[in-house]
Amino acid sequence: MKIQHQAIQYAAKLLSEGKLVAFPTETVYGLGGDARNETAIQKIYQIKKRPTTNPLIIHLSNVTAMENFATHIPDAAYQLAEQFWPGPLTLVLKKKPDVSTWVTGGQNTVALRVPAHPVALSLLNEFGGGIAAPSANRYTEISPTHFSHVQNKLGKDLDYILDGGPCSIGIESTIVSMVEALPVILREGHIKKEDISHCLGCETKTNQKDSAIHVPGSALKHYAPKKPLYIVPAKEILSTLNQLRQRDYSCAVLSFESTKQKLKNNIDLIWIGLAADPLIYAQHLYAALHELESGPSHCIIVESLPSSEDWSAIQDRLSRAATQPMSLNFVPV
Ligand code: TXA
Ligand code: MG
Repeated sequence: MKIQHQAIQYAAKLLSEGKLVAFPTETVYGLGGDARNETAIQKIYQIKKRPTTNPLIIHLSNVTAMENFATHIPDAAYQLAEQFWPGPLTLVLKKKPDVSTWVTGGQNTVALRVPAHPVALSLLNEFGGGIAAPSANRYTEISPTHFSHVQNKLGKDLDYILDGGPCSIGIESTIVSMVEALPVILREGHIKKEDISHCLGCETKTNQKDSAIHVPGSALKHYAPKKPLYIVPAKEILSTLNQLRQRDYSCAVLSFESTKQKLKNNIDLIWIGLAADPLIYAQHLYAALHELESGPSHCIIVESLPSSEDWSAIQDRLSRAATQPMSLNFVPV
């Protein structure tokens, strides 16, 4: 406990000096910098290799800190914050004039969230201000859910990484815009559309492509391993494996555990089986993709997911990780 407290004090000191610190949240690890320090924010974009038009989420220690960064906050935003914070929900609100457009990617709105991870909350309390933090991965790559993912991919570029163990939720927060008459889901996550509607007693919309709300991070290719990733139904896994093998491509497979038991037999390849429960699957998905990406195979086959609503946020991440259009012709890396 004492060591962790010293680590948090050290990390907060680095942040106040304009340095960058990666830290665990309940969703994924974040790459944090002082939200009021433009030089720190610019460094985040550089390290992530992310376009500067793609804004960052500011992490806060409590609900009232929203007022330091947002203005014209509707009652509904307070209701959501009271119900779901600390937790995996990000609210997009009108920004205060003194919030740097570096953080907001040039937009007049700001994304805010109070994370639930105890290490993140201790860091926020110790630091005292807002911490701007995107997921601690390079642009379009797989988000980190373990300390080692950050260490392996960004370790050389960071001043410090706080270790908080594996993330319990495993996919990024739900993002809800509160700047229109009705709430609009900009990114799906653990907190569902019906949770928002139920809390507010109103309809919740899903962002449409032609909407006035600009969601810079909704690029089709995202969360992707560096190898081709194909999503196929269970009954096509073996035939797809065969087709790829005929071209001398080695594969690794991610499927449900039950499918692995049924199909793997004596096939000699890396095959990860995950539970057919969306909460557990989400928790382990990115770790599985990191493992398959760093393994020896040329490509990754992932079993397709059920089409029900409770898999929707995971389906969103997986489809962005997949090679599109799905062509089995590729040049191995
Ligand atoms: O769970 C999470 O949200 C993690 C942890 C670290 O908190 N963070 C995260 O950040 O996923 P990032 O930067 O990887 O994704 C944030 C998304 C981006 O797609 C960004 O474009 C969008 O939030 N965003 C940020 N500010 C926005 C704004 N003002 N309007 C619309 N979208 C915004
Ligand atoms: Mg990200």
